[in-house]
Amino acid sequence: MTPSQKTPRVPRPIQYSEYLQLDQLLATQTLESARYGKPAHDELLFIITHQAYELWFKQIVFELESVVDIFDNSTVEDREMGQIIGWLTRITKIQTILLQQIDVIETMTPLDFLDFRDLLVPASGFQSIQFKQIEIMLGIRREQRTPADRDFFHSRLSEAEQSQLLALEARPSLLDLTDAWLQRMPFLNFGQFEFWREYETAVELMLESDRNIIALNPALSEEHRAWQLAAIETAKQRFASALEEERYNELRQAGEFRLTHQGFLAALFINLYRDEPMMYLPYRYLTLLLEIDQNFTNWRSRHALMVQRMLGRKIGTGGSSGHEYLSQTTEKNRVFLDLFALSTFLLPRSALPSLPVELSRALGFHFAGNSRATE
Ligand code: HEM
Repeated sequence: MTPSQKTPRVPRPIQYSEYLQLDQLLATQTLESARYGKPAHDELLFIITHQAYELWFKQIVFELESVVDIFDNSTVEDREMGQIIGWLTRITKIQTILLQQIDVIETMTPLDFLDFRDLLVPASGFQSIQFKQIEIMLGIRREQRTPADRDFFHSRLSEAEQSQLLALEARPSLLDLTDAWLQRMPFLNFGQFEFWREYETAVELMLESDRNIIALNPALSEEHRAWQLAAIETAKQRFASALEEERYNELRQAGEFRLTHQGFLAALFINLYRDEPMMYLPYRYLTLLLEIDQNFTNWRSRHALMVQRMLGRKIGTGGSSGHEYLSQTTEKNRVFLDLFALSTFLLPRSALPSLPVELSRALGFHFAGNSRATE
């Protein structure tokens, strides 16, 4: 039978509750306090909030897997980039909901929580495998975690869960794949044009102008002037460390950067020339990674504050130091810090090196004029 001869499939009638399997879904809110004969009013809210989080985590994992699948190839098609940006934007919108859900759970008072809290030991949000999956898929690695966070992998997760997460850690993360993609960016060596030499000159001119402004500022005391001039020298060193591969790699070894040098320069180029049409989608992509990192950090910080409000200095049901542990993971478990660091190395548009005509044309739409191009 040819495809055109196939009989059209008649969709079966399906009802709302059947499609969403509501019987099962709504039967999964079992109060632990009810088992002990004293149902606690707020436990239903506690369960539903966590379940809603896990459902949204599932959607985030799904979107991240789709993005990773595309990036885990030797090329990423332009068309796919639009799709990826759509999925990552969706993650940021979900994160907005995740943050707001804390307002809902905070309608439970610390005293109400005590009605059932002790029944939950040793269960803990730390055991959320999907949350760990998200962290790992984005790029958090075991060695960067706090000692307590690392230790909980062994002491709080089942062997099967540990193996699942270990296998995920062995795969390239979105950070690794983004770095590989950035390294493949073709525009950094364009014919005779040595972009980074031009950039270095532009930086030196900008710093010289800053030095003059400080030197001539009548409002500054001599002490303050010396301090500001020293800050310019520090900035100069910082620019040098971004440009010189050896110095950059030393800082990378020390954990200050995670992208490779080539990847970092490509990300910087994209941010500097994001007004060029070809750079816009890559710029949106990098910005979304930064936003996802920022949103998770906001959530962690908000969750840590809520925990302080709920527990004060009490330890968590999972056995951590509670608020203190969570404040540490808020600081430590960041992924795309390099993208935040890029702002240090941006120059005003007016100081940017002009691109050669052929390069500017290659970055533009076919018939677009190029106001910054040098003839
Ligand atoms: C009354 C509300 C809550 C309290 C008092 C609370 C308390 C805590 C505490 C103390 C920890 C540290 C580990 C431990 O010792 O147990 C923790 C970790 C965690 N909680 Fe909550 N939590 C609450 C609500 C939530 C909600 C609604 C979620 C959403 C899924 C959540 C997700 C997590 C996650 C993912 C971690 C691990 C974070 C990490 O290791 O960095 N928690 N929670």
